[in-house]
Amino acid sequence: MFKIQNSKPTLSITTNDIRKLYLDFFKSKGHTIIPSASLIPENDPTVLFTTAGMHPLVPYLLGEPHPGGHRLASAQKCVRTGDIDEVGDNRHLTFFEMLGNWSLGDYFKKEAIAFSFEFLTSKEWLAIEPTRFFVSVFEGDDDAPKDKESISYWQENFKSAGINADVGDWKKGISGDSRIFTYPKSKNWWGPAGETGPCGPDTEMFYDTLNLPDKSKHTTGWTGAEPCHPNCDCGRYVEMWNDVFMQYNKNKNGTFEPLKQQNVDTGMGLERTVAVLNQTNIFEVEEFKKIISSILTCAGVVHEEKNIPTSVYPRGFLGHNISEQEAIKAVRIIADHIRAAVFILGDECGVLPSNIGQGYVLRRLIRRAVRYGKLMGITGKFTRIVAEKVIELFGETYHELSKNSEKILSEIEKEEEKFAAALTRGLKEFEKLSAVNGKTAFALYQSYGFPLELTEEMAKEKGIEINKKTFEEEFKKHQELSRTASAGVFKGGLADNSEIIVKYHTATHLLHQALRDVLGSHIEQKGSNITKERLRFDFSHPQKMTFDELSRAESIVNEKIKENLPIGFEMLPVEEAKKRGAIGLFEEKYKIVGEKVKMYSIGNYSIEICGGPHVKATGEIGQFKIIKEEAVASGIRRIKAIIL
Ligand code: ALA
Repeated sequence: MFKIQNSKPTLSITTNDIRKLYLDFFKSKGHTIIPSASLIPENDPTVLFTTAGMHPLVPYLLGEPHPGGHRLASAQKCVRTGDIDEVGDNRHLTFFEMLGNWSLGDYFKKEAIAFSFEFLTSKEWLAIEPTRFFVSVFEGDDDAPKDKESISYWQENFKSAGINADVGDWKKGISGDSRIFTYPKSKNWWGPAGETGPCGPDTEMFYDTLNLPDKSKHTTGWTGAEPCHPNCDCGRYVEMWNDVFMQYNKNKNGTFEPLKQQNVDTGMGLERTVAVLNQTNIFEVEEFKKIISSILTCAGVVHEEKNIPTSVYPRGFLGHNISEQEAIKAVRIIADHIRAAVFILGDECGVLPSNIGQGYVLRRLIRRAVRYGKLMGITGKFTRIVAEKVIELFGETYHELSKNSEKILSEIEKEEEKFAAALTRGLKEFEKLSAVNGKTAFALYQSYGFPLELTEEMAKEKGIEINKKTFEEEFKKHQELSRTASAGVFKGGLADNSEIIVKYHTATHLLHQALRDVLGSHIEQKGSNITKERLRFDFSHPQKMTFDELSRAESIVNEKIKENLPIGFEMLPVEEAKKRGAIGLFEEKYKIVGEKVKMYSIGNYSIEICGGPHVKATGEIGQFKIIKEEAVASGIRRIKAIIL
């Protein structure tokens, strides 16, 4: 039994405040504000989730014109599962919002750095004391020189605030006036995610929290007295913002060639910024406090919402107390995971829990939250209550959450029910096991639905490492293991714009129109997903398509391919595009009146609002074949098709 220390007084700066300030600032600097894209990338098979604001902008970073012009800014929903084990500390989350500004061949290093410095430190904007900032730049190597330009722009900006900013050596820690540190590619370079594509050095801004470092995470070794450096993992310095300067293209032979269109791509963590401004950690900002309060209520912990957590936790699960530290971690993990699950379920292209791809990640998040709930001593169902709180807090900014609230709540609860009963029995089994190995991990997965990572985590708590290979071999014996579930596809970066994907993209437009021709104008796109192997198209239709309907749709697409129709686009206000009969819009995506959109036409056959890219003429596509038609939800059908 223990007490959790009181948190700071009620906070005054909210997530909504900062989101608005950021977008207002960049609007005042001539940027077009674009809405967040879906969390599920539509035409990019290289990643499961949108992991950065630049992700939906890849075609434009590669040179496609954007209807918003050359300066853009957004708040983008992101999911990064690579950091899932870090959740619970002061700064890591799986779902977060990334604030970003882009220059598509417009301004470059000088202006980007000046914008960042002004927004962070100017009295009119965030007004953070400039001495709190330390920055990192690329140190140079055989591929590209040291980023001296960024160093001098930082020095100019700090000087304007009366600060002398020297370049320091991170290995020696911070001393004197050292404020700018150079690091290798591993720290100060972004992209390409694939083998080739645009990439470049970046410069990161770190905020000194002045917190005592976590010794165990200190990366320079720890003697107790030695100073750390901005990019140290100890938690004292929090990375707030990253400005990427895309000035190179990585070629197939591994060389870096200067790009004609130099872009700026920046990313600022919204939750971290709010935490910094409130002098606290991410879990004590207004919204998270409310989510945590709802979790504590479920756990029967008496507390005041505005001053949490203040009370004593109940006895931990399995009859033993959990330590204060473990309890804090558990609450934070539940808050983070349920928030992420709500956003994934509620997304415009939302997915359901399953054993593959995004569905597997979603399942893992919900089940992990349920397990930590048990660990905290929560005996009843709780995910729905916490999810309701998340929707209440974010539904106004992200309308899709309020719109899909019924689905979100029932799916999260269903997954909890599926897992909760098995979890209690499974945990008892687990405790009895004297050896945990790949085989037993698979048995726990099969009998009780324990995601491998959960068993791994519990085994680790016992000091045991599980052989993943044995687990996967066992799995393969029974069914096909989705590579995406355990392989490293979670890292973000530049999408794969290979030719085949572009062909599938154009084929999707043809299919969409063909379905309307065959079935009627009630057909609306509900989701689209393309890999190198196939396209997948979800659409509204009340019943199964007949064989005849399917073959008619397929023949129409093939006819249009044969006609070798030219593809072109124009940019026009969304209302105008709608008036002209353009299809394919997700209403949520285009909510700004007068906002210009890109409208693609395929000959006189199809017009559709879409970002591109597409082939030049339909003849490039090849032969089109529908391989499957099935239901995905009530009133929604799915077609899978391939190109031969
Ligand atoms: N794309 C860059 C990042 O995510 C800005 O850090």
